[in-house]
Amino acid sequence: MSKVTVVGAGNVGATVANVLAHKDVANEIVLLDIRGNFAKGKALDSWQQAPIDYYSTKITGTDDYRKTKGSDVVVITAGIPRKPGMSRDDLISTNANIVTSVTQSILKHSKNPIIIVVSNPLDVMTYAAHKFSKLSNKRVFGMAGILDTARYRAFLATELGVSPKDLQAVLMGGHGDTMVPLPRYTTVAGIPVTEMIAKDKLNAIVERTKKGGGELVKLMGTSAWYAPGAAAAQMVESILRDEKRIFPCCVQLTGQYGLKNIFLGVPVQLGKNGIEKVLELKLNKTEMKSLNKSAKHVKDVMKVFDNMMKKKAKKK
Ligand code: LAC
Repeated sequence: MSKVTVVGAGNVGATVANVLAHKDVANEIVLLDIRGNFAKGKALDSWQQAPIDYYSTKITGTDDYRKTKGSDVVVITAGIPRKPGMSRDDLISTNANIVTSVTQSILKHSKNPIIIVVSNPLDVMTYAAHKFSKLSNKRVFGMAGILDTARYRAFLATELGVSPKDLQAVLMGGHGDTMVPLPRYTTVAGIPVTEMIAKDKLNAIVERTKKGGGELVKLMGTSAWYAPGAAAAQMVESILRDEKRIFPCCVQLTGQYGLKNIFLGVPVQLGKNGIEKVLELKLNKTEMKSLNKSAKHVKDVMKVFDNMMKKKAKKK
């Protein structure tokens, strides 16, 4: 028996629930939103899709945390999305309060869930959820790398005229413009991508990937949801099926890559215990330099969060 709660029934949360239901890997999905009827409507719509698309996952909507009781996995998507001209970091003051209070409400009803954070600024919101949950760092982590590599792989598939299915890639770092796509770890059906594409074209794709989220915000006036939602659902699937798949996820580093006290995207294996293993690649000097730059950026935003929390504590 497995139960998944998705907090936030906005575009991303509703997509996570819907894609996950299609995978038929959970027995039950609870979609929770403070706008109670909205979550109920989204869940009912998804449930009515079940006879058409053939899945049995029961999906319900609510605004009552009691209904999340005994969740095995919780996906937090609550918070506001970006508007054109905003960086993910601009969301911190609003989303930090939301994510910390969601985490506390969840833990009143589920003892030791695995928490996947999707809210932005992703790396710092994952840090916040981990800090407030007091759960093991194997059980609280963030979704960003799957989305960012998917963008990178999709751009490459278009450029090369190949199927996106044949693109494999690793991308590390924070979920922001300092993220680090790694061409040396990118293959097309096993062939190093560097043998298939000119250097300047590859560089242009790397740059486009880094700003991939912003490109969509500009096009739609709000941030993306299909790929982000599918990415989080894929993480849940690997956990519930104990697949131990390798994905870049945002996790707490405790010395890996020479970094600690930070939440950052690195390749990990996901299974029934959450993070089963953090993979340590042998990065070269240039790659390490880019990763350190990304880490510094994330640390700066973590500090902003810490200062916010200190001020809040003083007011009390
Ligand atoms: C994006 C948001 C979800 O990258 O961060 O589209």
